Amino acid sequence: RAGLAYDRTMSDEPHDTIDALSSENRTFPPSATFKADSLVVDTSLYDEANEDDEAFWARQATELVDWSEPWDTVLDWQLPYAKWFEGATLNVAHNCLDRHVAAGKGGKVAIHWEGEPGDTRKITYQDLLDEVSQFSNVLKGLGVDKGDRVNIYLPMIPEAAVAMLACARIGAAHSVVFGGFSSQSLSDRINDAEAKVLITADGGYRRGEVFPLKPAADEACESTPTIEHMIVVKRGGNDVTMVEGRDHWYHDLMDGASTDCPAEPMEAEHLLFLLYTSGTTGKPKGIMHTTGGYLTQVTYTHKYVFDLQPETDVFWCTADVGWITGHSYIVYGPLSNGCTQVMYEGVPNHPGNDRFWEIVEKYGVTIFYTAPTAIRTFMKWGADEPAKHDLSSLRLLGTVGEPINPEAWMWYHEHIGGERCPIVDTWWQTETGGIMISPLPGATTTKPGSATFPLPGVTAELVDDEAQPVPVGGGYLTLTRPWPGMLRGIWGDPDRYRETYWSRFEGRYFAGDGAKLDDAGYLWLLGRVDDVMNVSGHRISTTEVESALVSHPAVAEAAVVGATDATTGQAVIAYVILRGGADVGEQDLRAHVASEIGAIAKPRKVFITPDLPKTRSGKIMRRLLRDVAEGRLIGDTTTLADASIVDELQAKAAASTDD
Ligand code: PRX
Repeated sequence: RAGLAYDRTMSDEPHDTIDALSSENRTFPPSATFKADSLVVDTSLYDEANEDDEAFWARQATELVDWSEPWDTVLDWQLPYAKWFEGATLNVAHNCLDRHVAAGKGGKVAIHWEGEPGDTRKITYQDLLDEVSQFSNVLKGLGVDKGDRVNIYLPMIPEAAVAMLACARIGAAHSVVFGGFSSQSLSDRINDAEAKVLITADGGYRRGEVFPLKPAADEACESTPTIEHMIVVKRGGNDVTMVEGRDHWYHDLMDGASTDCPAEPMEAEHLLFLLYTSGTTGKPKGIMHTTGGYLTQVTYTHKYVFDLQPETDVFWCTADVGWITGHSYIVYGPLSNGCTQVMYEGVPNHPGNDRFWEIVEKYGVTIFYTAPTAIRTFMKWGADEPAKHDLSSLRLLGTVGEPINPEAWMWYHEHIGGERCPIVDTWWQTETGGIMISPLPGATTTKPGSATFPLPGVTAELVDDEAQPVPVGGGYLTLTRPWPGMLRGIWGDPDRYRETYWSRFEGRYFAGDGAKLDDAGYLWLLGRVDDVMNVSGHRISTTEVESALVSHPAVAEAAVVGATDATTGQAVIAYVILRGGADVGEQDLRAHVASEIGAIAKPRKVFITPDLPKTRSGKIMRRLLRDVAEGRLIGDTTTLADASIVDELQAKAAASTDD
């Protein structure tokens, strides 16, 4: 059933590609106090970029990045291949470390690191430069050359940043695998990248216990012929077996290593890293990011989206370095901008549900960047938790990773931001390298749940099934111009690169998200298009129904899927987590959705559940919920954080009778 054509046969009225059902009218202009110190308070950057985007990016690259040799061309664009700043050379580690030390900021704190058990490390730019230089020498000593790949499988400890920067310093590409992934995922990624060295730890802390990493690394390396050496950081103190000749303790190798390792300039298009997207289906894709364009984009977005005051801000991004958010907004963006940041090893609820707020107070965090799924969890734990702490240092909040429901946005605004902090809802992807759509906090009037506008230098457009631009209403989100931080391909698979991102709409980048434009031109992300339901010929976004459910005072979190239905094509099935102490009946929730966004979106069934199946990065796995709703055998659950919840939901589904 081809959506638009089908819609037209079903109804006299023209339909949007994705029906935009809800509307949110609250607006939040930046306050005069915030604007007073803000980097951008008007449309000047947008105007400049609209005039000539290449010249705009060239100016950012010149101002924000240190180059060893200038470029010959700003952009060479042979769709789908972009080359930015060709002819230029630079070193990313030099930009993140040496240039700050040379500017007299060696004593400035780069990272306030906090371990989950409460141990801390204060690392200055000079300390970090020394450790990175030493580790670069260690890698060279083990035979790692420019162009080699190095795998990193570490907890959230400073050595993760050290390892990444050391690779960048010597021109080896890193491939970080999130510490929560299994040995199988690790060996698949090592083999795809043909990595020479694996950097891991004995273990790390999570929920008050040591989780072992080295045993998983050992298991992975039973089937990774390219790995010559394994370097092991001592963190957990758990027992490990060291393989003679292959395995080395980090501290032994570092002992006596020279701090002298000049940063060698790399070509602008030199491979900086691979990062595998945790695809829910199919073989993971090794997303390729290169040197000059990527560094320009993350430095630029980190500065302007977070309105950085580098001398006074304390930045905290709660992501793990194993994801793109950690690459771009823990390691490369903040360090390139020379700011001070917090890095935290553990979970938000150890020892108490207020751990994050304790950290904000302790370090005087001014900019806080987290995911909507975390915010909904905080809502569930209640406003008393943040209220235990002085959060007055905060001046700006950010979100990333999923659409944020207006109710979660408002809760964040009130209970974390004290109604004084702008919120930047930042849309981007592993593939885009850096933030693409977001408010500029001193210039943009925000609306709860909207990522607002493409950043200066970025052009986005909504299109319908026939690739026609959609000026107002729902459609597919596409990017129409290359941008410096864009992926340069999929490692070893150019056909899949073209097919996945550049074939659905000719001449446009499409990575699978639906969005809508309101009549004021604000963009509202509607989730992945494969999460879009089709009920009686109306395409309905799971996000809008979820937001309607979460707007009910008894609901903390909701996930919605479309299940096959004989009458309506698909029916809406909802899974709902209630707020602590709340009680509500299924019929009330169905009626609530109907009154919020219309009877068409009313769930056929609402299951109340204590938890939802999520990936380890916190994304709800709707594919599994669809399987449960349609009574299918459950497929691969290996990427789930907690697989037992699927059994519980299946039992509930079997016990229920549809009315
Ligand atoms: O669906 C969009 C969602 O996350 C996807 C990208 O996931 P990943 O590559 O893992 O990177 C996540 C961190 C950048 C997107 O295709 N997404 C990300 N940010 C937002 C979002 N959806 C809505 N609003 C956002 N702010």
